[in-house]
Amino acid sequence: MSENLTFAIIKPDAFKSEHSGSIIKMIEKAEFKLLEMKLVSLTKEKASEFYKIHKEKPFYDRLCDYMSSGPIIVMKLSKNNAIEDFRKLIGSTNPQDAAKGTIRNLFATSIEANAIHGSDSNENAVIESDFFFNT
Ligand code: CMP
Repeated sequence: MSENLTFAIIKPDAFKSEHSGSIIKMIEKAEFKLLEMKLVSLTKEKASEFYKIHKEKPFYDRLCDYMSSGPIIVMKLSKNNAIEDFRKLIGSTNPQDAAKGTIRNLFATSIEANAIHGSDSNENAVIESDFFFNT
């Protein structure tokens, strides 16, 4: 299993607010290599499938509505220690807890509209990348 792969999504709020360029610049500056990238609009069904791991959570339905509310950018990225380094770069899920200078600290507006997603494990990085890039 790859230990230098992660998968990221620039979420609808960040895309709509035209922060995609700034976010990609931060990702490149942190020395992640862009392996694949594309602009996607998810149907609610596709979003529900992607986030099925959260099916039992009270926020699941809202999360799926939100993630299908507008275009997103999906990215497959590589770097040594990718999962941990990327999660450091993006900051805590809740932007109120995100460290200064992290992507969520700079661009997220709420726990739901939190600008960016990053995989939480090597295994999920592969599953999530395959979901969008089928490699
Ligand atoms: P992400 O890392 O993409 O994975 C699941 C998402 O669910 C998470 O980012 C948040 O945007 C969202 N989420 C997590 N907890 C909550 C919550 N308590 N209320 C609303 N959304 C949440």
